[in-house]
Amino acid sequence: MLSTIRTFGDWLASTDLSATIQNVSWIIPTVQTVHIVSVAVVIGAVFLVDLRILGVFAPTQSLAALSHRFLTWIWYALAVLFLTGAILIIGEPGRSLLNPAFFAKIIMIVVVAVLTYLVQRPLRSDAGYWDSSNSRRLTLKAIAVASLVLWSLVVFAGRWIAYVTPISV
Ligand code: HEM
Repeated sequence: MLSTIRTFGDWLASTDLSATIQNVSWIIPTVQTVHIVSVAVVIGAVFLVDLRILGVFAPTQSLAALSHRFLTWIWYALAVLFLTGAILIIGEPGRSLLNPAFFAKIIMIVVVAVLTYLVQRPLRSDAGYWDSSNSRRLTLKAIAVASLVLWSLVVFAGRWIAYVTPISV
């Protein structure tokens, strides 16, 4: 498995597209900037909604309205993150593809994106869904805490890719 990833990374690095991304000086800084602005959109939206769930922010505003207003944005921002992340990988595959911080980041993104969707989806058809029983209220608070921790760890892992040595195969 790891050697297949290695072979794929070596092939990617030898493509013309990878060479262009490496050699055109403005591409990487521009793509990194777009990646970071999109991180700000995701983190801003999820923190506002999670802090509302925990009663810290805007406790009088309806969760359904806040979720509709803010969480909707994160799916667009995630698509941009995926695209810009892919460009960064193609430019320098050896830096991320076999990097434990990158593995951790992708696994956490999948888990926390599913959690975010599970909070958002029932609110579309039933604004009072999460407020209809004590067990739902408790589940929602637990998801909000997990979401705050996981999204923060995704940011840490993203930054740490630069400092963790990739696995050598
Ligand atoms: C959805 C797929 C994503 C992919 C494929 C991806 C990929 C990458 C790659 C390849 C890098 C460059 C690492 C390096 O070479 O140092 C990076 C940086 C980073 N990513 Fe992502 N990323 C994704 C989503 C996210 C998300 C959702 C977040 C946070 C909410 C995030 C936060 C960061 C941060 C903070 C950095 C460091 C930026 C810097 O130091 O310049 N990424 N990402």
